[in-house]
Amino acid sequence: MKRLVGRLLGLALCFGLFGFALSAPAFKTKKQGEKVVIAGIGKSIHAYWREVELGMRAAEKKLKGCQVRWFVPPKEDVRAQVSTFESFIAQGVDAIVIGPSNPAAIKGAVKKALSAGIPVITFDTDAPDSGRLLYVGTDNYKAGYEAGKVMVKVLNGKGKVAICTGSLTALNSVQRMEGFKAALKGTQVQIVETYNDGEDKAKALANAQAALQKYPDLSGFYGVYAFNGPACAQAVKMAGKAGKVKIVCFDTTAEHMQLIKQGLITATIGQRPFMMGYRSTEILYRMVTEGVDKVLRDLKMDKLPTEKRHLDTGIDIVTKANMEAYRRQLLKLGIPVQGW
Ligand code: BGC
Repeated sequence: MKRLVGRLLGLALCFGLFGFALSAPAFKTKKQGEKVVIAGIGKSIHAYWREVELGMRAAEKKLKGCQVRWFVPPKEDVRAQVSTFESFIAQGVDAIVIGPSNPAAIKGAVKKALSAGIPVITFDTDAPDSGRLLYVGTDNYKAGYEAGKVMVKVLNGKGKVAICTGSLTALNSVQRMEGFKAALKGTQVQIVETYNDGEDKAKALANAQAALQKYPDLSGFYGVYAFNGPACAQAVKMAGKAGKVKIVCFDTTAEHMQLIKQGLITATIGQRPFMMGYRSTEILYRMVTEGVDKVLRDLKMDKLPTEKRHLDTGIDIVTKANMEAYRRQLLKLGIPVQGW
């Protein structure tokens, strides 16, 4: 009997330790000054992601021994993201940051990296239940809600709106749409249809044109991704409806800012892509050189459940009226302003 209890205890201990090893992976640490390779995976080739990369490159320059490896697929491509992620693990990079186009699809690869001792975080869009260590980026539900409030105001509480987005799976898109819809509750602003372009520029334009044709009385476009505001603006201009169909969208690339100046985009939710890249690289570098636990403690995130760990990079609601103040604010934050 005693022997049986002993064996059972031994087994329980074994499982306990094994379970612990699974839930709390041992991360390797490097000394400062040693080469630290940080891999970044974006979602599509676009000026928005170029800003994220520039943020990563700025941190790379500042941090001793830091080396950034960067990848973005031409347009939304879940498989390319997953296979690149796997190949970064195989190359033995020290840390990975990814903006997953499909949080469910990346889960296995994230777990694999973590159990190999490679810290993984997300930026721009999250995969909260993948086990990633934290998320750096916009609070997308809140941002979508703000966009909805602006739309209601711009349309005086009434009108038909089409949603144009670049993903139906990425969490940032899903949350921006949910937040937007929540803000329309109790108003007479109505969503007529949701179009997805998979972050394909030509498709984004074709979708906006199709919406204008199908709904001649359309009052507004909600452009969820960086591709969408400018694509809707082009379609509206080509249809001779400038000013008649309002556009509320996301992001502040030079193209967006010029379209705001021209009055084609009414308002846009500015994210901070440069900061997403910069902060993510800095955090991962510190995780590799100082230890994951210490960094989480310093960020005051160690007591939070993993999925709640979010470093909010903030948003700005930008219109023609405040674009110069916005420029000054970016410069004050150390974010380079280019092309407008
Ligand atoms: C989103 C990104 C997206 C980009 C380009 C941004 O608004 O945050 O997830 O990849 O637009 O479409």
